[in-house]
Amino acid sequence: MDTAITDHLLSTTRAVRRRLDLDRPVAREIILECLRLALQAPTGSNKQSWRWLVLDDPAVRAQVADLYARNTGPVLDQRYALSPDAQTTRVYDSARYLVEVLARVPVLVVPCVQGRLDEPGSTYPAAFYGSIFPAIWSFQLALRSRGLGSVLTTPFHGEYEQQYTEILHLPHDMTPIAMVPVAYTVGDEFKPAERTPIESIARWNRWSEPS
Ligand SMILES: Cc1cc2nc3c(=O)[nH]c(=O)nc-3n(C[C@H](O)[C@H](O)[C@H](O)COP(=O)(O)O)c2cc1C
Repeated sequence: MDTAITDHLLSTTRAVRRRLDLDRPVAREIILECLRLALQAPTGSNKQSWRWLVLDDPAVRAQVADLYARNTGPVLDQRYALSPDAQTTRVYDSARYLVEVLARVPVLVVPCVQGRLDEPGSTYPAAFYGSIFPAIWSFQLALRSRGLGSVLTTPFHGEYEQQYTEILHLPHDMTPIAMVPVAYTVGDEFKPAERTPIESIARWNRWSEPS
């Protein structure tokens, strides 16, 4: 395996918002190709309860974008009020840009889990959500390696889940987990992000022991 390539992919797959190419169409086949790869991800008890709703109809995307603006706009306003640091402020500015252009993003992918976390006999939260997020990330990596960008968003909470459910005609037992806007990127150079060094957030054997 060429780790120069895989390390580059893993360290430069970013949340892309401002550099989504809103004018270049995305073929259904490339979405399916990336989703096919995503299905190699792990699931708890090998359940594979993932389902994928892909929105490429402009009328449906417009409805979703309108609702997204109504629920994400106020959330961002609240977060700005908490005086975030410079890096976080950049993220919020970029998230606000996404709100404005969402209807023009060519494809929105809604990963779902068949089943509900609150139904009797359902699995525990770590397994429920943990059985879809690895696949979502694989999907995003596969997109990146083909010149497409994406960003994981999570608008399905509280009363909004019901409103999205109505727009998307989701059956009751289908839980929408995320919405991933997808487009080709403008340019393909992305950099590793600044992160807390691993040495200061990992320990060996017992948390109380110095590394
Ligand atoms: C669970 C989760 C929820 C997220 N929700 C949103 C969201 O609602 N809107 C958004 O624009 N980005 C969202 N993001 C993307 C993060 O803002 C982004 O990953 C983070 O700022 C780091 O940027 P990077 O991925 O480019 O390193 C989410 C990411 C995760 C993992």
